[in-house]
Amino acid sequence: MRIVCIGGGPAGLYFGLLMKKFHPEHTITVVERNKPYDTFGWGVVFSDATMESMKVWDPQSAAEIQQAFNHWDDIEVWFKGTRQRTSGHGFVGIGRKKLLNILQRRCEALGVELQFETDVDSDLDFPDADLIIASDGLNSKIREHYRDIFQPDMVTRPNRYIWLGTDKLYDAFTFDFRKTDHGWFQAHIYKFDEQTSTFIIETTEEAYQAHRLGEMDQQGSIDFCQSLFAEVLDGGELRTNARHLRGSAWLNFNRLICGNWSHFNGNSHVVLMGDAAHTAHFAIGSGTKLAIDDAIELTNQFEKLGHDKDKIPAVLDAYEEIRRVDVARIQNAARNAMEWFEVVGERYADTLEPKQFMYSMLTRSQRISHENLRLRDRTWLEGYERWFARKAGLEVKDGERCLPPMFTPFTVRGVTLQNRVVVSPMAMYSATDGLIDDFHMVHLGARAMGGAGLVFAEMTCVSPDARITPGCLGLWNEEQAAGWKRFVDFAHAKSGAKVGIQIGHAGRKGSTKLAWQGIDQPLEDGNWPLISASAIAYRPDSQVPKAMDRADMDRVTADFVSATKRAAEAGADWLELHCAHGYLLSSFLSPLTNQRTDEYGGNHANRARYPLEVFAAVRAAWPADRPISVRLSCHDWTDGGNLPEDAAIFSQMFKDAGADLIDCSSGQVSKAEKPVYGRLFQTPFSDKIRNEIHIPTIAVGAISEADHANSIIAAGRADLCAVARPHLADPDWSLHEAAKIGLTQIAWPKQYASAKYQYEANLARAATGK
Ligand SMILES: Cc1cc2nc3c(=O)[nH]c(=O)nc-3n(C[C@H](O)[C@H](O)[C@H](O)COP(=O)(O)OP(=O)(O)OC[C@H]3O[C@@H](n4cnc5c(N)ncnc54)[C@H](O)[C@@H]3O)c2cc1C
Ligand SMILES: Cc1cc2nc3c(=O)[nH]c(=O)nc-3n(C[C@H](O)[C@H](O)[C@H](O)COP(=O)(O)O)c2cc1C
Repeated sequence: MRIVCIGGGPAGLYFGLLMKKFHPEHTITVVERNKPYDTFGWGVVFSDATMESMKVWDPQSAAEIQQAFNHWDDIEVWFKGTRQRTSGHGFVGIGRKKLLNILQRRCEALGVELQFETDVDSDLDFPDADLIIASDGLNSKIREHYRDIFQPDMVTRPNRYIWLGTDKLYDAFTFDFRKTDHGWFQAHIYKFDEQTSTFIIETTEEAYQAHRLGEMDQQGSIDFCQSLFAEVLDGGELRTNARHLRGSAWLNFNRLICGNWSHFNGNSHVVLMGDAAHTAHFAIGSGTKLAIDDAIELTNQFEKLGHDKDKIPAVLDAYEEIRRVDVARIQNAARNAMEWFEVVGERYADTLEPKQFMYSMLTRSQRISHENLRLRDRTWLEGYERWFARKAGLEVKDGERCLPPMFTPFTVRGVTLQNRVVVSPMAMYSATDGLIDDFHMVHLGARAMGGAGLVFAEMTCVSPDARITPGCLGLWNEEQAAGWKRFVDFAHAKSGAKVGIQIGHAGRKGSTKLAWQGIDQPLEDGNWPLISASAIAYRPDSQVPKAMDRADMDRVTADFVSATKRAAEAGADWLELHCAHGYLLSSFLSPLTNQRTDEYGGNHANRARYPLEVFAAVRAAWPADRPISVRLSCHDWTDGGNLPEDAAIFSQMFKDAGADLIDCSSGQVSKAEKPVYGRLFQTPFSDKIRNEIHIPTIAVGAISEADHANSIIAAGRADLCAVARPHLADPDWSLHEAAKIGLTQIAWPKQYASAKYQYEANLARAATGK
């Protein structure tokens, strides 16, 4: 085969050398526009895992690279006059120039032809090539030439960064955060050889503009950064090696995903590799790793499927299919990390205390969890746990292992939850005439004894026509209130759990069958009239609701107030107002369901007007020493619907009206929704609202392990974690999760205590495999 790699970065060089090594009969040329020892950039970071696979594929170059590596374990954060350090993180850094030179030498030794100072215009310049690797980096000409085929999706991110170096050497991966009159700047710093450290400085567009950095030449920017980061530089000087760039050299990161990675141009197969195909933000330092992994996988596929020309299409398909998965995983983590740095100034730096700020930063990609931090640096993590527990009011002795964040108490108004776990509201469709019966006593009772701090019952409806289905619970009469009191009394007497009642009105999603008979489908008979913000049916076959008039509003508000008083008399500890999931109050908040032209429709204040009227009436009727949370759909997942930014605006309004927490859910407003599910997928909404609006929050959605809950609460992404489906699978979720993380001091109900030791012993035995 004749192979041409256009672009001699890590991707092109490494692929060239691997293919030549395994099949010297191939003719391979790497064409590079720069001179041999001329490159832009300072150091790059690798993970140990990439190094291991490089050792397998080409031990010679791996040995040289390893020798040139600088290895370090620590991360140090400079923030508001503090310097905090943790260990066990395992990075390796190498100068980009050094890496490329090793790869170039290895290519030459193996017989790969290196053609420097050749700026390639088109893949068609190589008509005799069987395979062309477009390894020409982020601004790939080859990819752009075939935009329609490769379908690049490039998003320019808002932050600005400048890539500098310094002769000051650091013994940890160092982050320094500095506030100016116009906003925060952060430096990402790491040593990559015996003389030099990389020093990347990042800030927001607003701060960049306000400091007029765009109007300065490079020296102007360097002088600015030098003085801003003088303390961490400690006499070291900042330098650029990108003098060839015009202007100030502050760049925006471009996130790239391509729809297709290969194409046949009539003569040759062309395939994208490395930054030409995808990018990952430097916040997790994985661009070079991805480029190397691409080169390895393409070689691997040739090895598996054969080196004949007719195998090329199958090889390219397999390469793309396999690499896409890994790239998506890394890009996902990189996006979380990148977004953390984009919002760090407005969201965290002025909100979190230094210790929690550090924790939040370490877990920014959401790939590193609480238990993972324990493995990396137990001393640091347990010190953090003690700090968190003391903040939560626990007395903790120095040096002892204390309760982890999810098991610390949480106090709001006059209510203290024993821990941060909430049984999320879940409709059970099992009531007759809205009454709590034996099913609810057993179902809710089991969950109260299962160790959670707060047990919510399902959405409890404020009138018969407020129900979703005929099987929903209600609080519109005294008999129902008496049923509630029976459960509340039981929970208070027999468990440590507090009881929450979520009150709501189904609105346009009412009068439907029980879930297992046809979710959201209208009843066969016995339907009742529906009301909503606007006369828009939920499904094509749903009843069209009446748009509420003033009399409807007054009646429904009065129903909410009556239900609130009954909940208080029943002794419930906590009330939640259901303003999510497309039900009545939610239908006012979303522009998809609220198309009113009066003062209850239009802008945020108008759309929130009726839900806030209800909230104010409910708050006035609810005892002052008991909290109220408000559940919101923080993302409608549909074009034209609410976004987290809208949810933040509504959260501020509810906060101003006296709400104690926002319960951050999403969706179920429109049938056209396309939610992006995944582990902890709604936690970013909670993080945003908690740290931008400064109101406590409940995170919910795909939180299924103690490790998730601890990571969320420790990082300050939420104050409480609501767990729904896992509590259906296991009423004792909190007790079992405690045991799984080796926490033996959480008490079980005394009647079950004899099972506790055995359960823990079995887990310990399973963990050791004996
Ligand atoms: C600030 C910053 C920090 C980074 N830090 C890290 C890090 O810590 N760790 C990490 O792993 N990655 C890091 N990266 C990313 C990393 O540099 C890239 O992801 C990686 O180099 C991609 O390799 P590549 O071979 O695909 O592309 P590149 O390294 O961009 O190589 C492409 C090559 O093609 C050449 N070329 C382009 N067009 C032509 C043409 N028409 N004709 C001939 N030659 C051409 C270019 O000159 C270049 O040499 C960082 C990037 C930035 C911007
Ligand atoms: C069977 C079932 C019924 C639900 N009913 C309600 C409800 O009445 N009120 C509500 O706000 N959310 C309700 N939800 C949503 C959950 O409270 C929770 O937000 C969602 O299931 C995501 O959490 P999870 O991933 O832990 O299950 C229900 C979920 C399930 C599975």
